[in-house]
Amino acid sequence: MRIEMYTDQSLLDERAAQLIADVVKESAQPILGLATGGTPTGVYDKLLNIYRKGEVSFNHVTTFNLDEYVGLPASHPETYVSYMNKHLFDHINLPKDRIHIPDGSHPNPAEECLRYDRALEEAGRIDLQLLGLGHNGHIGFNEPNKTLIRSTHVVELSPQTREANARFFDSIDEVPKKAITMGIGSILQAKQILLIVKGAAKADIVKEALTGPITTEIPASLLQTHPGLIVLLDREAAAKLDPAMIAPPCSSAT
Ligand code: GLP
Repeated sequence: MRIEMYTDQSLLDERAAQLIADVVKESAQPILGLATGGTPTGVYDKLLNIYRKGEVSFNHVTTFNLDEYVGLPASHPETYVSYMNKHLFDHINLPKDRIHIPDGSHPNPAEECLRYDRALEEAGRIDLQLLGLGHNGHIGFNEPNKTLIRSTHVVELSPQTREANARFFDSIDEVPKKAITMGIGSILQAKQILLIVKGAAKADIVKEALTGPITTEIPASLLQTHPGLIVLLDREAAAKLDPAMIAPPCSSAT
């Protein structure tokens, strides 16, 4: 695992965007695993800057998003498909038929999970999986539990997760109670994982996830087993880590 800490969030976002762009440039048929939430919006902004400078093209890229709420129509502004269109897809030359996001409005979510897994399997291994971190240690929507599920599945969102995401809705009652998420097995199969965490409110969970015991009660702790894990933290999120664990910021972003 490589952990980098950035005092300037803009440099952190640039570093993440550059790592994504490098994968897109280096692979003949790159597959990106993408994430939503408040954390990666700056990364997508920087990726758009790189694209607009003509340094990267997405016409040969395939994408898989981690998760989607169940029960919202796709046109709802808070679905993850709306988020991805707004922050990235509407602005780049990524062919629409190469975009994969679970359909949370599918009448049979279990069937949709099977379809998603088939698409993942047909595509092959994800080259780079972008991840944020939930306050309770979830990744995607793989919530803390006694056991975790390998493949795509429907999940009941924890009260803490619904509360954390209520800021995007008019009230907590509007936050969906269920979601479809890529499973922990699919996430861990990615060749490279890029975990991004910002803010003091996540300093404790960062420490537990990266240095504590590996447990399904903190799904992100399983990332410790991944040989290609890069973690980008801001100063606040890194505050509880032993400084000896932290590599200096990458020079390409300074
Ligand atoms: C959300 C998403 C996750 C995300 C996490 C953190 O609910 N399902 O993929 O990484 O929670 O979100 P944020 O970046 O808004 O703190």
